[in-house]
Amino acid sequence: MSAVEERAPYDPMPHGPPEVGIGPWEGPWPEGEQYDARLLAEGDRRNVVDRYRYWTVEAIVADLDTRRHDFHVAIENWQHDFNIGTIVRTANAFLAAEVHIVGNRRWNRRGAMVTDRYQHVRHHPDVPALAAYLHERELTLLGIDNLPGSLHLETTTVPRRVCFLFGQEGPGLSEGARTACDGTFSIAQFGSTRSINASSAAAIAMHAWVREHADLSDGAAWRGGS
Ligand SMILES: C[S@@+](CC[C@H](N)C(=O)[O-])C[C@H]1O[C@@H](n2cnc3c(N)ncnc32)[C@H](O)[C@@H]1O
Repeated sequence: MSAVEERAPYDPMPHGPPEVGIGPWEGPWPEGEQYDARLLAEGDRRNVVDRYRYWTVEAIVADLDTRRHDFHVAIENWQHDFNIGTIVRTANAFLAAEVHIVGNRRWNRRGAMVTDRYQHVRHHPDVPALAAYLHERELTLLGIDNLPGSLHLETTTVPRRVCFLFGQEGPGLSEGARTACDGTFSIAQFGSTRSINASSAAAIAMHAWVREHADLSDGAAWRGGS
């Protein structure tokens, strides 16, 4: 069997190195509840930063929970939007408090690249239910869409305690969502297309929050794999 055939059936990086991560732990095993005996014995090939090598999923989530940011993200899911997976992955990278899915409970996990295991994902039947959940926790719900009357994300300060809500690929934010939001923000565009992809918009909005509020002092942010 060739090296290509030995790879996982769904390989997101078919032309990259066949394995990421590290092999079995060499020498006496470290002590601590965070370590996973199977990973120590067999190696850790997961797509996680080095800090979490050989850690159990539960230990990683518990550690992330001590550092999560104050922003949440939400997406409407009436048509099984394929952007949700990539939004979850970006939410994990920027350490969102929670991801909210409004509408259908089923969503395509492929783009999440397993990051959903490290992320709190909640479901809500509709946007008013999401808004009620957020308002109870003193979070502002901001719709992100290029609608008439939206404020410019580029020139407005985003609140610290906020949830960004994104619409679906075809219709954008539903009428109900527009009504339930505390405000809407748009991302400036200059070309010919009417809109950008929802997960790209989500990444831009999350990064706007990071630029405004995240702790970028030494050691707080992972810069390329540490
Ligand atoms: C592909 S867009 C749909 C936009 C709408 N149907 C249209 O064509 O005018 C899907 C989602 O991506 C986000 N989005 C795309 N472009 C955006 C922009 N320029 N500003 C803010 N949000 C944007 C919004 O959340 C939107 O609901």
